[in-house]
Amino acid sequence: MAILQHDIELPSNIPELLMEKHANYLILYGTNKDEYNYSQTEHMRMSGMYWGLTALDLMGKLEQTNKEEVLEFIGQCQNDSGGISASMQHDPHLLYTLSAVQILSMYDALDVINVDKIVNYVKERQQADGSFAGDQWGEVDVRFSFCAVATLSLLNRLDAIDIEKAVQFVLKCMNFDGGFGSKPGSESHAGLIYCCVGLLSITGHLHLIDADRLGWWLCERQLPSGGLNGRPEKLPDVCYSWWVLSALTILGRLHWIDKKALIDYILTCQDVESGGFSDRPGDMVDPFHTLFGLTALSLLDKNFSLKSINPTYCMPEYVIDRLGLKPSRLD
Ligand code: FPP
Ligand code: ZN
Repeated sequence: MAILQHDIELPSNIPELLMEKHANYLILYGTNKDEYNYSQTEHMRMSGMYWGLTALDLMGKLEQTNKEEVLEFIGQCQNDSGGISASMQHDPHLLYTLSAVQILSMYDALDVINVDKIVNYVKERQQADGSFAGDQWGEVDVRFSFCAVATLSLLNRLDAIDIEKAVQFVLKCMNFDGGFGSKPGSESHAGLIYCCVGLLSITGHLHLIDADRLGWWLCERQLPSGGLNGRPEKLPDVCYSWWVLSALTILGRLHWIDKKALIDYILTCQDVESGGFSDRPGDMVDPFHTLFGLTALSLLDKNFSLKSINPTYCMPEYVIDRLGLKPSRLD
């Protein structure tokens, strides 16, 4: 049986890292509220803010953001249930609750929110089999398990849930290839592998992973262009530089990747005029791919003058240190 490999051809000139342009792009994105793109992303605003602010922090530009405005917005998005929504008057969800807690942690401002209510909201999402529903409507996915565990650990309140059951559910999502899918029986996907490896890293259960098998599946995501895809037969995409590399870093197998080829791929995904990164060279840039281009470069090479990123939380390492958290990693 033929194995199809979709890939792209890289342009011959590889730009340097255009840090100032990326910072300007992100700051403008957050301030130009009349822009079409801004209005179209209201349903995911809280995560969008987390992507932009984390990227800016990695580049040493968090001070140029409007902290008071962001904190006020987060307060307005906390619902009576304790959960946090993407925007005001939207339904709360674990995805946006995590993003909000990540932002508050970066700003060292966890005291401006009702933490007990967040803890209660997260705890109530856990199901009898240990899984988590993302919101009151009940969709279950390991992304939400990760969001729940990451949120509670940032709040130092992991004791509120049944961790052993949460781990057992994640293990049921492990496949024959060493990877993880969104629920038991679903195909392996690099984004969901990040969630599962991250959860096992936070809870100290990495020994339950077949690290060689999973590491092999992850490094097979690298294509001849140097870019990484998220599943076999898919095109490369900058965001998978993060989902794959973070998991390989936690597993102690980052050196299984051709770093130089991946750096070149990521650098060619910059918009050299407007700033920002896209999924593939020449596509439209956005804050999501801009964050994951930068986080991957931070993991790949210390010489980029980016702050270190924590591979488990996708937050600057100094914030994780300040909170006294020690997510585990394999050697
Ligand atoms: C790919 O999505 C990525 C995932 C499925 C993982 C998402 C992880 C979270 C939401 C957890 C929180 C994340 C962080 C960084 C703290 P996609 O919809 O782009 O997948 P596709 O490429 O298959 O379309
Ligand atoms: Zn992508």
